Amino acid sequence: MKKIFLTRTLDDLTLKKLKKRYQVEVHSGKIPISQTKLRSKIRGIEGLICFPYDKIDKKTIDLAENLKVISTYSVGFDHIDTEYAKKKGIKIGYTPEVLTDATADLTFALLLDLMRRVSEGDRTIRKKKWNEVYGAFDYVGFDLQGKTLGIIGLGRIGRALAKRASAFDMKINYHNRKRVSKTLEKTLGVKFASFEKIITESDIISIHVPHTKETEHMFNSNVFRKMKKTAFLINTSRGKVVNEKDLITALKKKTIAGAGLDVFEIEPIEKDSQLLRLENCLITPHIGSSTIETRKKMAEITMKNLDYGIRGEKPIYTL
Ligand code: DGY
Repeated sequence: MKKIFLTRTLDDLTLKKLKKRYQVEVHSGKIPISQTKLRSKIRGIEGLICFPYDKIDKKTIDLAENLKVISTYSVGFDHIDTEYAKKKGIKIGYTPEVLTDATADLTFALLLDLMRRVSEGDRTIRKKKWNEVYGAFDYVGFDLQGKTLGIIGLGRIGRALAKRASAFDMKINYHNRKRVSKTLEKTLGVKFASFEKIITESDIISIHVPHTKETEHMFNSNVFRKMKKTAFLINTSRGKVVNEKDLITALKKKTIAGAGLDVFEIEPIEKDSQLLRLENCLITPHIGSSTIETRKKMAEITMKNLDYGIRGEKPIYTL
């Protein structure tokens, strides 16, 4: 039987199906696989199922003498040197579309939480600080209605977010490399705007671009300085699109009002990250796609992508 390796465990049903067709090895445990272990495992396997925490770089790919396919359990693929893998004849599979709604929901959950201070309220009550929220204006958030949401990147998730925001009567501007059609703008109720306009005029900015050389640290101190002092930043895309050091400074100095982050420059987030100590920073553990329904669909696609790739065929979602 052909050998495959999984860098993280999947649900029992998927594993059972995989075990019927392949010799399966799984990195178990609760921490991401080390680069050394990943490199030692990649020799001799024909299929790899990986996750955004795993770095599949040139050196790792060079060790993969028999590898036919890298099937990542994610829509993002910035953890894989895709160009190099393709040059080596290795097929790449990924999981777009199925996680669009789940990620947009999480983004909107962060938006609502920040605007209405839900998690902050939870922390306050657990610390038994009722007196701090007692007065009519002691603990107030903001209405969503009429606020301006700036969406950076109007791909699938950006569009799904726009639908949600429009149901809450928000004004929605977006910035994208390419302006979308007028018909789509009308359907979504969005207006195209320059990056400058988005950062200076939005009450909430939500990032939906992939991490590339061009987008790395797109949000930095220069941008934070131009944002409204009352504005919030939300990131459910990739941590490296934001310069985290600059963000920490902006949050500490209240250059911006707050941030909702599902992704970080280093994941898992470092134990001593200053973000964890900031009251105006809302943090979730990279759970954009974490719903039972979505994760099952992702598992199904990941498995199919792997099957196709091992057979030398094009994965159903490929690059
Ligand atoms: C993805 O699929 O890329 C999401 O970030 C979840 O990992």
